[in-house]
Amino acid sequence: MRRKLAAGNWKMNGLRADLATLHTLAERHSAAQVDILLCPPATLIGACTDLPFAIGGQDCHPNTSGAHTGDISAAMLADAGASHVITGHSERRADHGETDATVAAKSQAAYDAGLQAVICIGETLNERETGKTLSVIDQQLAGSIPDSSSAANTIIAYEPVWAIGTGKVPTLDQIGEVHAHIRARLTARFSDGDDMRILYGGSVKGSNAADIFGVADVDGALVGGASLKADDFSPIISALE
Ligand code: G3H
Repeated sequence: MRRKLAAGNWKMNGLRADLATLHTLAERHSAAQVDILLCPPATLIGACTDLPFAIGGQDCHPNTSGAHTGDISAAMLADAGASHVITGHSERRADHGETDATVAAKSQAAYDAGLQAVICIGETLNERETGKTLSVIDQQLAGSIPDSSSAANTIIAYEPVWAIGTGKVPTLDQIGEVHAHIRARLTARFSDGDDMRILYGGSVKGSNAADIFGVADVDGALVGGASLKADDFSPIISALE
């Protein structure tokens, strides 16, 4: 049985003053029957470790240490109190030229540091409109997910790039098609692939969460904008419970 997961990705948002949001969430959901993961900017990880949620980084370097100014290793995230890290988010793939191989190396670094990786995949609008969605997903799954992945160290996040921050959401049938496809690939490749959680991400809101969570093989959500305010994230968490 896969436990449901509500994950919030704050991206490059959040100062110490914004931690009040998380304390409000903690008051409302400390007894939640679902897992909750919050990925604040790295500067806030240390200030989040007293919260009753899992805390994650948003990226890590593939190396454990070295001359990489400005980067953060998976071991550093773990040392700061994180248990998870997002790898392969489309914004990093686009802004920093991260390839599937880079994402796989970062995910492996996460495992080596004892972190769970939330590995992101998803097609662009052009790829969707030209009928390439499932082949892109296949390529990303094959290239971004290390052979050492398991249900214990890996969560997949399906995030259509065109749905991120746009208010556009695929139809429930489209979400179901891709999640079923990912599930089939995971079970074919990994002995515990049926236990790996697959999150949907892209313009999830309180108003559409229940419908999305009703789709087979959707085990939760990776939420960006709507995770920034307690009143927006709360209904999404509640929709999973
Ligand atoms: O990591 C989160 C996703 O990019 C979704 O962002 O909920 O603002 O569309 P969004």
